[in-house]
Amino acid sequence: MKAQITLLPGDGIGPEVLAAGKSVLESIAQKFGHSFEMQEYLIGGCAIDARGTALPEDTLQACQSSDAVLLGAVGGPKWDDPTAPVRPEQGLLGLRKELGLFANLRPVKPHPDLLDASPLRRELLVEVDLLVIRELTGGIYFGQPRERRSVNGEEQAVDTMIYSESEVRRVAHLAFKLARGRKAKVTSVDKANVLESSRLWRQTVSSMAGDYPDVVLEHLLVDAAAMHLLTRPATFDVMLTSNLFGDILTDEASVLSGSMGNLSSASLGESTNNLNQPKGLFEPIHGSAPDIAGQGIANPIGTILSAAMLLRHSLGLESEARAVEDAVQSAISNGYRTPDLGGSLSTSQMTEKIIAGFGVSKSEAVL
Ligand code: IPM
Ligand code: MG
Repeated sequence: MKAQITLLPGDGIGPEVLAAGKSVLESIAQKFGHSFEMQEYLIGGCAIDARGTALPEDTLQACQSSDAVLLGAVGGPKWDDPTAPVRPEQGLLGLRKELGLFANLRPVKPHPDLLDASPLRRELLVEVDLLVIRELTGGIYFGQPRERRSVNGEEQAVDTMIYSESEVRRVAHLAFKLARGRKAKVTSVDKANVLESSRLWRQTVSSMAGDYPDVVLEHLLVDAAAMHLLTRPATFDVMLTSNLFGDILTDEASVLSGSMGNLSSASLGESTNNLNQPKGLFEPIHGSAPDIAGQGIANPIGTILSAAMLLRHSLGLESEARAVEDAVQSAISNGYRTPDLGGSLSTSQMTEKIIAGFGVSKSEAVL
């Protein structure tokens, strides 16, 4: 197969983990006889420095015309001035919005050998296998008005949390559908006891339950969900939530996996690519980690698993995606670890260990 993939390294550890994802895609192409044309473009802080904007036009165009996008991370202290007119994050948010990627899938399934890397007791973690579906192009991240204003001589700031029924419906449909191929349970998370937008959210999701009689639906308030994620994480299957709540809850959920560096994500919408597959943006859930940037020690697993999601969702290459996921599993089973997981391998060493496992059975990989 021939596919075009846009690579967006971004800032901080972004370029380091992106290089790992790229090597994995190159090795998969070689092993399975595909041809992936991969081109890098600027986004985030580095784009602000070079072009004065976080999402240059050529970057957006490349993302629109290619079959899939793999991204590292954006942001960093250099661009953190709260009064700055442009911010790196605008690049990522703009891209999600422009591509219409309203659903963000964030799977959380701790590897059995990493249970002790989490501060939670292992018995709470053994059965954990959850998929957070975060609404990605609405809510308080995009609501208008969003502004600074002067009121009675005092500075005031406003953000707007807004959801329309159709926005809730389309992401909820996906949650119900994906639950069918799993444990058939959807937990919808909101703050319906306080927020009007959450009441509409809950009402809309509830009204759809009849179309999915085989799926169990439960509702949780976000504060309780934050607690239950730590006290009974294994009872969740698909967790459906809004943009802001999903951002917060997935950082929390990453703790279950032993490291924030392990988690991957796929952002999907309704549009399809040249291969007639869903167009998608794939990125680890972690940020640019300025504290370790440039040291070559970032955990590449989140990006590599995002590359696996890219193969599966946007290129339709299920066996190739599995090969990557199995290789990550084997590398961890064989004890290979970056420093965030208590090991001493560099990003590139860890990546080499993973690539060495492609298509090789577990017992052979040990040798
Ligand atoms: C994430 C990140 C982004 C978000 C930032 C970098 C804008 O935290 O993908 O979880 O808030 O969506
Ligand atoms: Mg986040």
